[in-house]
Amino acid sequence: MGRKIAVVGAGYVGLTTGACLSHLGHDVTCIESNPDKIEMLSAGRIPISEPGLAEIVEEGLSSQRLRFTMDREEGVKDREFIFLCVPTPQDEDGSADLSYLVQAASELKPYLQPGSIVINKSTVPVGSTHVVADALGRSDVHVVSNPEFLREGSAVADFLKPERVVIGADDSDVAARVAGLQLRRSAPLLVTDPESAELIKYASNAFLATKISYANSIAALAEAVGADMDDVVIGMGLDSRIGSSFLQPGPGWGGSCLPKDTSALIYTANTVGYSFTMLDEVVRVNNAQFDRVVEKTEQVVGQPLDGKTIAVWGLTFKAGTDDLRESPSLEVISRLQAKGAKIRAYDPEVNGPSPLLDGIEIALDPYKCCTDADALVVLTEWPEFGALDLDRVVQELSSPRVVDTRNVLDRVALRRRGFVYRGIGRV
Ligand code: UDX
Ligand code: UDX
Repeated sequence: MGRKIAVVGAGYVGLTTGACLSHLGHDVTCIESNPDKIEMLSAGRIPISEPGLAEIVEEGLSSQRLRFTMDREEGVKDREFIFLCVPTPQDEDGSADLSYLVQAASELKPYLQPGSIVINKSTVPVGSTHVVADALGRSDVHVVSNPEFLREGSAVADFLKPERVVIGADDSDVAARVAGLQLRRSAPLLVTDPESAELIKYASNAFLATKISYANSIAALAEAVGADMDDVVIGMGLDSRIGSSFLQPGPGWGGSCLPKDTSALIYTANTVGYSFTMLDEVVRVNNAQFDRVVEKTEQVVGQPLDGKTIAVWGLTFKAGTDDLRESPSLEVISRLQAKGAKIRAYDPEVNGPSPLLDGIEIALDPYKCCTDADALVVLTEWPEFGALDLDRVVQELSSPRVVDTRNVLDRVALRRRGFVYRGIGRV
C-alpha cells in the first residue's frame, strides 16, 4: 500500500528519491526552498540531466502521486515518512556543514505528526542522526539514517535496483517500517545503529577515492616503466577480491560527493583523536594528479603555457551528467589558467553560462573548440569523443598535440596523423 511521504530538498538526491518513491506507488510531496525549481518541476521540467528521471517525474505528476511545494506545513502535516535530502557542503576546515540540515529539522518541528519517521539521506558525519533528533526536539518522532548510494548518471537505476540498503536506527520496529517502503526490493538489507550507517557511507566513498588514487599512482608507475595501464587494470580486475571497477586512471576524482566525504572523514577522525594519514595521502595524490595533467600539457606543447590556447573536451566531473561541481576538469583548467593559458572548452552537456565557468570560452562544437589551439586536452570520458573525426581535429589545431586524460581517443590513429600524444598510464 502506498504511504504518505515528504522529501525535503529537490536536488540530485531528493528529486530522485521523491520521484522513485512515487514510482513505487507512494504519495510523495517534495518540499523545496527554491521557487524557480518548484515552478519548473511542477510543470514537469527537470533542472538536471539524469537518465530516466524526467519520465518518472512526469508519471508522478500525471498520477498525482508526486507534487512540489515550498510550504513546509502543507508538505509534512499528514506525512508518515520524511526524507531529509538537503545539502551538507564542505566547510573551510573540511568538516561537513550541517546548518541546512539543522535548519530543515527545526522548521519542520511544529508540523510533524506524532509517530512519524524522519529519515536522514543527506550525507552526514557520524553522530548527525542525533543532531537532527536534537534539532527536532520531538520525543514522539523517530529519526533514522538511510544513506544514499546514488551515482549521478545512474541515480534512478541505483535507487530502484540498489546493491544494498542500509538503515541506521535505534529501534528495529522503526527500521522495519522504513524498509517496508520497498527500498530494498531484491537487495541485501542491513539494519544497524545510526553511527554505523553513517560511517558506512563515508567509508564507502573514501574507499572509492582511495581505489582511484591508487590506480592513478600505478598509472604513473606504468608510464615510467613502459607498462600499459589498460592491461594492468584488466589483469588486476580479474582477481575477484580486487574487481576492475574504480580502477580507471584519469585526471583525478571529483564530483559533489567523493571530495567532500573524504575530507569530512579525515575531519571526523581528527576530532576523535585518530590521524587518518592514509586518507591525507589519497587526497594529496589526487591534487598531484591535477598537476600531472598540467605537466603533460606543458610537455606536449613543449613551451611555457603563457599565452597559449588550450582546447578542452569535457567539463563535467564524469560522463553521463551535467554536474560541474568539484569537477576535476575545472581543477585542471584553473591550474592551466594560472600558467597563463587561455581555455576554450566543449562539453556535450554544457551550453550556457555558469558561475563555475568564469574565464572559460565555451564552444558549442568539438571541432570549433580546437580552432588554432596549441593543444587539445580531454578531461571527461564522454564516449562520443572517441568517435570524432581526427582528420578534422588535425585541421583545426595549430599543431597536432593531445593529452587524453581519460584514454578515450585511439592513440594509434592519433600518432598515425602525426599527433604528439600523452595518455594516462600508457606510452
Ligand atoms: C545533497 C548533499 O550534497 C548530499 O550530501 C546529500 O547526501 C544529499 O543532498 P544533492 O542532492 O546533490 O546532494 O544536492 P543539491 O543538488 O544541491 O540539492 C539540494 C536541494 O535542497 C536544492 O534543490 C536546494 O534548493 C534544496 N534546499 C536546500 C532546500 O530545499 N532547503 C534547504 O534548507 C536547503
Ligand atoms: C559517488 C558514489 O559512487 C555513489 O555511491 C554516491 O555515494 C554518490 O557519490 P558520484 O559522485 O556520482 O557517486 O561519482 P562516481 O561515479 O563515484 O565518480 C566520482 C569521480 O571518480 C568522478 O570524477 C569520476 O570520473 C572518477 N572516477 C571514477 C575515476 O577517475 N576512475 C574510476 O574508475 C571511477
